Amino acid sequence: MLSSQRQFLLPILGLLALAGPAFGGVKEVHDVYELSGQPAIQPRFSTDVANGKYTPPEEMDPQFWYSLADEEITKRLALPQPSSLKAKNVIMFLGDGMPLATVAAARILKGQRQGKTGEESSLSFERFPYTGLSRTYCSNAQVPDSACTATAYLCGVKTNIINIGVSAAVNYNNCTASQDPANRLTSIAEWAQNAGKSTGIVTTTTLTHASPSGAYAKTANRMWECDSDVTSYGADASTCIDMATQLVTQTPGKNFEIMFGGGMGKFLPKSITDSHGKAGERSDGVNLLGRWQGLHDGGVLVTNRDQLLSVNVSRVSSIIGLFQSKLMNFHMDADETYQPTLSELTEVAIKKLSQNEEGYFVFIEGGLIDYGNHYTQPGYALDEALEFEKAIQLARDLTNIEDTLIVVTADHGHAVSIAGYPGRGTPILGINQHDTDLNGVKYAVLNYAAGPNQYLDETGQRLPLEDILVSDDAIAPSYIAKEQGVHSGEDVGIWASGPQSHLFTGVMQQSTIPHLMAYASCIGSGQKLCDRA
Ligand SMILES: *[C@@H]1O[C@H](CO)[C@@H](O)[C@H](O)[C@H]1NC(C)=O
Ligand SMILES: *[C@@H]1O[C@H](CO)[C@@H](O)[C@H](O)[C@H]1NC(C)=O
Ligand SMILES: [Zn+2]
Repeated sequence: MLSSQRQFLLPILGLLALAGPAFGGVKEVHDVYELSGQPAIQPRFSTDVANGKYTPPEEMDPQFWYSLADEEITKRLALPQPSSLKAKNVIMFLGDGMPLATVAAARILKGQRQGKTGEESSLSFERFPYTGLSRTYCSNAQVPDSACTATAYLCGVKTNIINIGVSAAVNYNNCTASQDPANRLTSIAEWAQNAGKSTGIVTTTTLTHASPSGAYAKTANRMWECDSDVTSYGADASTCIDMATQLVTQTPGKNFEIMFGGGMGKFLPKSITDSHGKAGERSDGVNLLGRWQGLHDGGVLVTNRDQLLSVNVSRVSSIIGLFQSKLMNFHMDADETYQPTLSELTEVAIKKLSQNEEGYFVFIEGGLIDYGNHYTQPGYALDEALEFEKAIQLARDLTNIEDTLIVVTADHGHAVSIAGYPGRGTPILGINQHDTDLNGVKYAVLNYAAGPNQYLDETGQRLPLEDILVSDDAIAPSYIAKEQGVHSGEDVGIWASGPQSHLFTGVMQQSTIPHLMAYASCIGSGQKLCDRA
């Protein structure tokens, strides 16, 4: 299911994320819980940190914590009363496979990249005023996949694992059942379109990957991305419509004004070489991109960063961007001149969609966090999480906090842990200096339940990792030998900012999330803010 494609080097930093707030900064005060306490020294090079024996000197003074607590109380007291403001725009950010352990590790890495200890750092969305927890199990699964969870957080209904956009009455690979109108669901993208809003999807995976597909597809198998995939799973591709075809020809996909991601091959026949030099994957001979252009007067196809950034959004009706043949590359490996960052995709998407006076709904996914965790390469997962948090900061800066609701969440966790009492400031991708196993061998800070490398010698003893965990792409140790890491079943976080964000608190079913977004923006068929007196 996972294909590795790491062709390039050199990261690009989201300079855009440094842009000032577009909304005058007044409300920002109420919407931010930034911890101001930061270590006075740059401990990164301290031998005490290296030995796991560092305490920031200012933290030895209780007054440091009293002041910090006072600041945090004051910020909470300054929160405005829940307002009656309606969300004209809704931006949903989805960190695929981003458990709270990955969020905490990413914030530590963020601080450590700035030369600090890291634990005290904050991600952009952690400054949002309201947080909740999302229960992620699916109808037939204790631990879910990205398909049934996408159905929950975009269509508002829990279903079976591997299903997208159809109810739990549909069983695996059963096309007949998926075509029964009684089993087919609508997504918040369709609810938004029915209210006259613009819609779009953005992902770092493929446009036909499970998460973005929740916005438009109805399928009994998430793997049916193009007709060749349908056939390879034993279904009839002439009657069982693949997801790329659904996206281009059916409601609501055909009405999306923004579609950014990878997966160009799913839209082109095998006889055509795509913009990235690879052959298309379709067996039916259909060029879906030609078809899309025929259906979209003023629509434009872009396939690299320069093309994307040179689009004048006022002059096009819609944009489809397909930036790789398959998945997009990890940010850490990507050619910065060729593949746009998630922040760049986010900026163009918001600029285009915000032209609609009626507002918009856009789904934006950091889809490769999950891949980093599956590969048990936390350096990739955390770098992707940091790209994700930059895009969220940019989205908050580009939009008005009084009319744009931003909801950040994950679809499911991953079985990764931060464990074993490492000292303050210990490199998050490194080794815990404080503890050993029963044989006196030190162990990593980050460990996975399952994955390819157990790092055992021939007698089953753990190997020392000092020479192994040395690069950002190192494979972390795992307990159960498997080709890949596995998802986990604990709750994931929800972080919200903007109109009605106070509703995104407490422990909720994942399937409630789109209904809350619909309530806030007065769309869909359920309860709406606008229906209240
Ligand atoms: C597919 O679903 C239908 C119900 O829609 C059911 O009658 C049929 O037995 C299912 N087929 C398989 C192979 O499970
Ligand atoms: C984009 O197009 C609009 C409308 O044609 C035009 O007014 C504007 O100057 C263009 N912007 C740029 C940067 O070319
Ligand atoms: Zn996954």
